[in-house]
Amino acid sequence: MDLVLLEKALLGLFAAIVVAIAVSKLRGKRFRLPPGPLPVPVFGNWLQVGDDLNHRNLSALARRFGDILLLRMGQRNLVVVSSPAVARDVLHTQGVEFGSRTRNVVFDIFTGKGQDMVFTVYGEHWRKMRRIMTVPFFTNKVVQQYRTGWEDEAARVVADVKADPKAATEGIVLRRRLQLMMYNNMYRIMFDRRFESEEDPLFLRLKALNGERSRLAQSFEYNYGDFIPLLRPFLRGYLKICKEVKERRLQLFKDYFLEERKKLASTKPVDNAGLKCAIDHILDAEKKGEINEDNVLYIVENINVAAIETTLWSIEWGIAELVNHPDVQQKLRNELDTVLGPGVAVTEPDTQKLPYLQAVIKETLRLRMAIPLLVPHMNLHDAKLGGFDIPAESKILVNAWWLANNPDHWKKPEEFRPERFLEEEAKVEANGNDFRYLPFGVGRRSCPGIILALPILGITIGRLVQNFELLPPPGQKKLDTSEKGGQFSLHILKHSTIVAKPRMI
Ligand code: HEM
Repeated sequence: MDLVLLEKALLGLFAAIVVAIAVSKLRGKRFRLPPGPLPVPVFGNWLQVGDDLNHRNLSALARRFGDILLLRMGQRNLVVVSSPAVARDVLHTQGVEFGSRTRNVVFDIFTGKGQDMVFTVYGEHWRKMRRIMTVPFFTNKVVQQYRTGWEDEAARVVADVKADPKAATEGIVLRRRLQLMMYNNMYRIMFDRRFESEEDPLFLRLKALNGERSRLAQSFEYNYGDFIPLLRPFLRGYLKICKEVKERRLQLFKDYFLEERKKLASTKPVDNAGLKCAIDHILDAEKKGEINEDNVLYIVENINVAAIETTLWSIEWGIAELVNHPDVQQKLRNELDTVLGPGVAVTEPDTQKLPYLQAVIKETLRLRMAIPLLVPHMNLHDAKLGGFDIPAESKILVNAWWLANNPDHWKKPEEFRPERFLEEEAKVEANGNDFRYLPFGVGRRSCPGIILALPILGITIGRLVQNFELLPPPGQKKLDTSEKGGQFSLHILKHSTIVAKPRMI
């Protein structure tokens, strides 16, 4: 069976080589393509550049080939954007033309072929989904409804860490507790639910399935089938696993959260005055026939992938930088003590009065950008960019990390120095008011979750610094801040063990 498949694939490969040479000759004449390394037939640049197109590798390529460069990954065209001016063109001026998302066989499985919002093409469906999700998730009213919940979750983290004798001596992996906090912050908004402990069986199942989904979607393992469609039949086993994980995960959302909420609503009607949680609004839209049952599930799926780990990685990076820069940590603590008074726990409205806290968060998001290449964009039709032709359905990667870390545009960008956002970069905000700094993107497909992420970061980091002196574990001068990932998301390679010594206030 597999031999027949192999024979077919080899024949197909030969045919593809001939076609690719012919097409590239024709295209070369017709198109003025962006520069890039010289592609070979069938594989394009894949064998030269490899699988790991992370933010640093792409920055190195930009230094060689310029602000708009083209990589051919098998049959896929990948355009890398590396300057603020071109980023403006892609995300703002030509926001509609470049406002779609790429698809592949694996994402098609996890999103039901684009029935979701985050990974769907630009158009009517996306517009409707984004509109329906805005009121329940992305307004200041939501922040006001849930901020005491986030403050409560942060207070519980502080209490749990204080109660753990290891925390002040050998140290603990703080991230584990913060992960529970982030799930609770988001599950309170979505379903008015929280998980009691890190050992809660439902939390463990959810975490495992979300982890599997991210691993499978972000793996390089299926690249060959994505880049060279003829090899796709060999992905059968991989895709089968993806389908199983997707089914189990959606079933879990359905059985344990959606059905529960529907049952509750039928016995105890939610009042319209504000006790509705996000899913009640989404179910209303389903009842009105605006979306179907699957869309509801994919909204839950999207929040699980887009909201929880992104914010958690940023908190984790922020804490690691504060441990490695005790002077910054102390300065932040002084600000909290001076502005709020010692022992007065920081709340969401306070975060506006704390410029140094804001600067620490901005600097963390600059140097350790959680989604360094944004979520890939795509042009549905042939387009123009900076005088070059961009073939339809190219994957467009905006290297936002490089925009924010290019020494031509930033003073000593490799340094973690929050002061820059109070001094020479005082006007730069995280909302995309400066095209050198786009941690949440900008324009039509920008992150709507910024309105929640920034206060959650402020409350969490603020409370930790108010309550603890955060230090590396005994015998270690600094935490290891080696990076992992970069192509989809950028996280710390090893979750740090951190000593949290309670302050005597
Ligand atoms: C520090 C935390 C976060 C960071 C750094 C972040 C970053 C991003 C980035 C870079 C994008 C892609 C922008 C683009 O493609 O141009 C994005 C998209 C998105 N984010 Fe976030 N995000 C964070 C938290 C959140 C939260 C808390 C939520 C939800 C509650 C959320 C929901 C979304 C959604 C729904 C999209 C897709 C928007 C679309 O395609 O129209 N994010 N985010």
